Amino acid sequence: MSRLKYINSKLPVLWHGGDYNPEQWAPQVWTEDARLMEEAAFRVATLGVFSWAKLEPREGQFEFGWLDEVIERLAERDRYFILATPSAAPPAWMARAYPEILRTGPDRVRRLHGNRVNYSLCSPIYREKTRDMARRLAERYGGHPRLLAWHVSNEYGGEDYSPETIAAFRLWLREKYGTLEALNAAYWAAFWSHTYSDWEEIDAPGEPYGETAVHGLTVDWKRFTTDATVEFMLNEMAPLRELSPEVPVTTNFMGTFPGLDYRKLASHLDFISWDSYPAFVGPLDETETWVAAAFKHDLTRGMATEGRWMLMECSPSSSNWYPSMELKRPGMHRFEALQAVAHGADGVQYFQWRQSRGGQEQYHGAVVSHGTGSSGRVFREVQAVGRELDGLAALTGSRFQAEVAVVFDWPCMWALDAASGPVQRPKGYERTCIEHYRAFWEAGIPVDVIGMEDALEGYRLVVAPMAYSLVPGFAERVERFVTRGGTFLTTYLSGWTDENSLVFEEGYLGPLRRVLGIESEELDALPPNRRNRIEFTLPGISGSFEARDFCEIVKPTTARVVGAFGEDFFAGGAAVTVNELGTGRAYYVAARGERASIQGLLREIASEAGLEPLVKGLPEGVTATCRRGEKGSWLFLMNATSQWQAIQSDGWGEVALAPWDVRVLPLNARQGPESSAQESEKVAPAP
Ligand code: GAL
Repeated sequence: MSRLKYINSKLPVLWHGGDYNPEQWAPQVWTEDARLMEEAAFRVATLGVFSWAKLEPREGQFEFGWLDEVIERLAERDRYFILATPSAAPPAWMARAYPEILRTGPDRVRRLHGNRVNYSLCSPIYREKTRDMARRLAERYGGHPRLLAWHVSNEYGGEDYSPETIAAFRLWLREKYGTLEALNAAYWAAFWSHTYSDWEEIDAPGEPYGETAVHGLTVDWKRFTTDATVEFMLNEMAPLRELSPEVPVTTNFMGTFPGLDYRKLASHLDFISWDSYPAFVGPLDETETWVAAAFKHDLTRGMATEGRWMLMECSPSSSNWYPSMELKRPGMHRFEALQAVAHGADGVQYFQWRQSRGGQEQYHGAVVSHGTGSSGRVFREVQAVGRELDGLAALTGSRFQAEVAVVFDWPCMWALDAASGPVQRPKGYERTCIEHYRAFWEAGIPVDVIGMEDALEGYRLVVAPMAYSLVPGFAERVERFVTRGGTFLTTYLSGWTDENSLVFEEGYLGPLRRVLGIESEELDALPPNRRNRIEFTLPGISGSFEARDFCEIVKPTTARVVGAFGEDFFAGGAAVTVNELGTGRAYYVAARGERASIQGLLREIASEAGLEPLVKGLPEGVTATCRRGEKGSWLFLMNATSQWQAIQSDGWGEVALAPWDVRVLPLNARQGPESSAQESEKVAPAP
């Protein structure tokens, strides 16, 4: 694995480029495209993502000449390329010759050729074919001086119910549990007579025909799908690693996509990339969209070795799969690109370079849109972003540091989603994590998004909303973290089950009880039209706030009450508690409060934990981040609203931000890469 500071030191600038699908176009267009790419400051073309039918038009007949020529055209214009393996879309001839390579749906019907990501996860033939194709690509292009990275497949995802995959699932279970007794115990299988007496009795769970009542099985199926995807990925990565060990490898994630535990894929990649398509126009709260994008950037960065990541795809204008194809307003594209950089990205790329004339994505936004060439607004905005990124080249390889972590964990989300209570409507795990994240975003305090298995050391404050199902050892690590001076906060619906979705024998909160200094007795799930209230008694947050959805009845053992319920039969009882342990503190929030209460509480706790915003007094919808590197440190001020905003800063006086404006300000040289995020609070202009 590459340990370099840059994604690839062949091009130590912020990469600007995107998906290029030359197989859809005639050779004269390739020449024109390379010229236009130069004009657009578009340095990196991602090739080959869906090119299988062109690379191997008939079984065993390989045609690479066209790709050689495309790469030559790009090289003549000093462009670079990322090369994908084409496994996301098998060609029609292959589906006809080997129908078993196709995916089977949850209805147990084998799909026909078409669409994409339509392959069986465990088909031996497809594994052989994808490995062979990757080998041929590595042999031919692995040593190419213009190759920057491998992009394996495209957006892995989805479950496969083919017989081979279900057989692999049974084997996976055997390896995990060893005996059926252990599996039956983990699944609480005596309930409804769900006891298995033979491994062959086990099938994949899920609608419309499968088991939905054994939550451990549901979560295991998702864990297995992740592991099978990792295996699929490693199979096609193997020849790339073997033949071109110096070329970094990535695959493109989809943010919080619920189908895979991306952390398991990430540990095999040299850098992480993801495809971001925020619904930037039309939401009731426009800032929410950008907060969610920021959360996903921080989630992506948190999975990356040494924080190396890039935006692999975004739309330069609109996305055709939204209910309405609203255009990005002028300035929004620049905001989106620089926001990613502000969160540590070393590249911003698009889907796609040239808009297709036909097919599913003929109307999806592209840099070169139908008929406009380089004269369109979108092209010009992209070009301006490319030039600006070139101007920010010194930032490449600089890092983002945070002293706050928000925990977002896939298996925890799966377990919560699978649970048949306490509400039948969505429980809102992701939304709640983002809501807590937002409090820091609004304050201008940098955050890392981490998983339950990640280290807590190095943070001052760790926030784990709705930590429903705990991985073994998490509670013990939290306790150590708090005892040594850390601040921890968790909420209602935490610590209900172990990793098998079995409720802790000692009751809710399980092994978290000691660190939190409370016991949990009952949880009231409110129908959508009912409310309770939280009355705070903390110095920095007073008053009464609305609570909805979940109100838990907890009994302090060693904790202090700093917020009480205002209504119903548990009025006056603990709604927010704090427990002091060692030199740290652990907070518990027993109800889902309105945004203002989350914000007020987290700001208070952050300040108590000694965390300072990068810039004080940011107006609503404006945030700040910071990157530090050998060549300097930079403060990003971002206005995620459609209004003008003004910031008062000690160093620069008043900074005015236009709608969706981003300012990148060099920090005082005194604040080098070694200084803590804390020190960067003293925002001062470069001398
Ligand atoms: C991505 C995908 C691209 C393209 C894009 C359109 O999810 O990787 O190939 O389909 O969406 O928004």
